[in-house]
Amino acid sequence: MDIYHDLTVIVDEKTTVLQVLEGSNLRRVLLDHGFSPYAAFTTRLNCGGRGLCATCGVWIEQGTPAPEHWHDQIGAYFGYPRLSCQIVVNGPMTVRLLTDKRIWGGPQRDRRWRS
Ligand code: FES
Repeated sequence: MDIYHDLTVIVDEKTTVLQVLEGSNLRRVLLDHGFSPYAAFTTRLNCGGRGLCATCGVWIEQGTPAPEHWHDQIGAYFGYPRLSCQIVVNGPMTVRLLTDKRIWGGPQRDRRWRS
């Protein structure tokens, strides 16, 4: 039996709730539903989800998974946006897309991830 989770996507003030199959890749889900985790400049210039360019960052507002990929671990530790290409949806999650970033999006101290 397939398990689905609510994925809430916030873009500016607009909220959309998607039903996402457990185990789905967050970046892939966003792109498949017409949401881009990228800035305009990096929409075409990115690593294609290999965890190398750090341009697919999103803020995770709820349901934050522990970072597993080394690049995502570093970013999460220092409070940078989380790499959507390295996140698997395994529960309800709320993500906010960064509509004002030029390439990566800046860090925020209060968003540091700690285990
Ligand atoms: S798409 Fe390059 S790090 Fe995610």
